[in-house]
Amino acid sequence: NPLWLIVPAAGQGRRMAAAKPKQYLALGEKPIMRHTLERLHAAFPEAHLVLCLDPDDQWFDPGWVPFSRWQRVDGGSERMDSVMQALAAIPAEPEDLVMVHDVARPCVSVADLGLLLSHMQMHPAGALLAMPVADTMKRADDSGASGATEPRDGLWHALTPQGFRFELLCRALDQARANQLMVTDEASAVEALGQYPRLVSGRRDNLKVTHPDDLALANAILAAQQRNS
Ligand code: CTP
Ligand code: MG
Repeated sequence: NPLWLIVPAAGQGRRMAAAKPKQYLALGEKPIMRHTLERLHAAFPEAHLVLCLDPDDQWFDPGWVPFSRWQRVDGGSERMDSVMQALAAIPAEPEDLVMVHDVARPCVSVADLGLLLSHMQMHPAGALLAMPVADTMKRADDSGASGATEPRDGLWHALTPQGFRFELLCRALDQARANQLMVTDEASAVEALGQYPRLVSGRRDNLKVTHPDDLALANAILAAQQRNS
């Protein structure tokens, strides 16, 4: 069965506050989107890609897509809407595996992509790349003072990709929408069904490019990865 890759890329990059959406900003020679698609293709050359784009997008170039099997769909107003649009557009079988990866994570490693897929195959509730929290976590009170220290044990950062069986992911997101649950990742929608996706400890350099200073960081990460490969 095919592996389906959904890449939500319909965001506006408001926090980046650049002249165009962040996925079109250059890292080295190439736009972020191209780095991300090339990493995914290196890991899964036979996968079927679904790229969610803003219907008014003016920057996308189909020449950047290395996959032979791919399609674009119109994104929605939230990330979750974009992913649901992609799910609605693909003729997947219930047990097919679907991996969702933010276009804004160009530094994901091919090794982590393969590791995640193997966990998706083992765990019926799916799996996501994640990273144990390193800092001490504070809960702020209403005034912005430190109200409490949250125990760090068992706290993880949720990264992408996240992957699930097609049927489970559709059911989870449909349910989240019906309950007006605003989920920022797929795993939280699955958790709301009472199923628990596997946390897969990934590399610490799978940065989500979000703020202007992340560009220099992502450049340094890509350069270091190239030196070490
Ligand atoms: N995304 C999407 N459709 C939306 C909103 C976000 O496909 N309506 C995508 C983004 O393109 C990105 C991923 O979801 O790949 C994660 O979102 P985020 O990092 O928040 O990107 P933006 O929404 O573009 O940035 P910001 O929140 O700063 O505006
Ligand atoms: Mg956003």
